Amino acid sequence: MKRTVRKVAILGSGVMGSRIAAHFANNGVDVLLLDIVPKALSDDEIKKGLTPESPAFRNRFAKSGLENAVKSNPAAFYRADLASRVKTGNFEDNFPEIKDADWILEAVIENLDIKKSVFEKVDQFRKPGSIVSTNTSGIPVHFMLDGRSDDFRKNFLGTHFFNPPRYLKLLEVIPTPETDRSVVDFILEYGDLFLGKSTVECKDTPDFIANRIGVFGMMNTFKVMEQLGLSVDEVDKLTGPVVGRPKSATFRTADIVGLDTLVLVASHLYEALPSDEKREVFKIPAYLTKMVENKWLGDKTKQGFFKKLKKRTDLQTS
Ligand SMILES: NC(=O)c1ccc[n+]([C@@H]2O[C@H](COP(=O)([O-])OP(=O)(O)OC[C@H]3O[C@@H](n4cnc5c(N)ncnc54)[C@H](O)[C@@H]3O)[C@@H](O)[C@H]2O)c1
Repeated sequence: MKRTVRKVAILGSGVMGSRIAAHFANNGVDVLLLDIVPKALSDDEIKKGLTPESPAFRNRFAKSGLENAVKSNPAAFYRADLASRVKTGNFEDNFPEIKDADWILEAVIENLDIKKSVFEKVDQFRKPGSIVSTNTSGIPVHFMLDGRSDDFRKNFLGTHFFNPPRYLKLLEVIPTPETDRSVVDFILEYGDLFLGKSTVECKDTPDFIANRIGVFGMMNTFKVMEQLGLSVDEVDKLTGPVVGRPKSATFRTADIVGLDTLVLVASHLYEALPSDEKREVFKIPAYLTKMVENKWLGDKTKQGFFKKLKKRTDLQTS
C-alpha cells in the first residue's frame, strides 16, 4: 500500500504532544491537536462569562499547549505562523475528526489504563489503514493491544520522540509482534526523510533502548549525589559539557522532561524489573516525591530544580 501523511491527529497537548505537533506542522503536515476537557471553569473564565459549553473553555488545554509550543525556547516551530497548520480541539467534541488522519499519535500521560481508554476511542473513530502510535517513554507497547480490532493491531506501534522533538535526532520505532512490517518500514523511512530523525527499531522491552540507559543514568546520579553530598549545581557542572553531554546535564534535563513524568517512568521501571541487580536505583528519592506533590514539576509549572530549589540543602529542608 502506498502511504502518505497529509494529516496527523495528536492526542495529548502537553510537553511532548504540542511540540510533536509543531514538528509535523514544520514539515507541511496538517495537525489536529486534541486534549481532555478541563474539569471546571477557572475564576478567570467565569469572569469572562464563559460557560461549560464555551469552546474557549472546552479547548483550553489544547489551546494552551499550542501557545506554549509557539513560545517555547528553543523554538518548536520553524516560524510562528506555521502554528496555523495546527487545529486545536477536545476529546469530547472533536474526536470523530480523527477519521481524516493518516497517522494518530497518542501523547497522553504515562499511564497504561489511560492510554488504553484513549485507544478504545481511537478504534471507534479512525479510518481503516490509518497508523496509530504511542509516544510512551517505556511502557511495553504490546500491553496496549487488549481489546483492539484486527485493523488497529496491524497498524499500531510505538514511535518514541525525544524532548525537544524538533531538535533531538533519535526516533525509536517499536513494533509489536502484530504490527504489519510495511507499517514499520514506512515509519522508519518517513521519520528519516520527512521528520529528519535517526530512526532506530527497538525491541518492545521496558523503556526500549535510550531510556533504559538514560533513566538508569539519571536515577543513579541522584543516588551518587546523596552519597557524596553534592549540590544540584555541582552535579550539573559535573554531568554536562565537561563530560561531552548537553548543557542541560542532569537536573536541568529533569526540569525539561517534567518531574511527574520522570517519576512515572522510573516507577514503571522499578515495577517492570523485579530481578534486576540494580533495581533499587529506580526507587524515587523522597525530595522528588515531595516536589511532585507540591506541583514543582519543572518547566511546565515554572518551578523545579532551577526555579526554586537550587541547592541540595534546600532539597532536604523543604
Ligand atoms: N516529557 C518528556 O521528556 C517525554 C519524552 C518522551 C516521551 N514522553 C512521553 O510522552 C507522553 C506525554 O508526556 P508529556 O511529557 O507530554 O506529559 P505532560 O504531562 O506534559 O502531558 C500529559 C498530557 O496528558 C493529558 N492527560 C492527563 N490526564 C489525562 C486523561 N485522564 N486522559 C487523557 N489525557 C490526559 C494532559 O491533559 C496532557 O495533555 C508520555 O507517555 C511520556 O512518558 C515524554
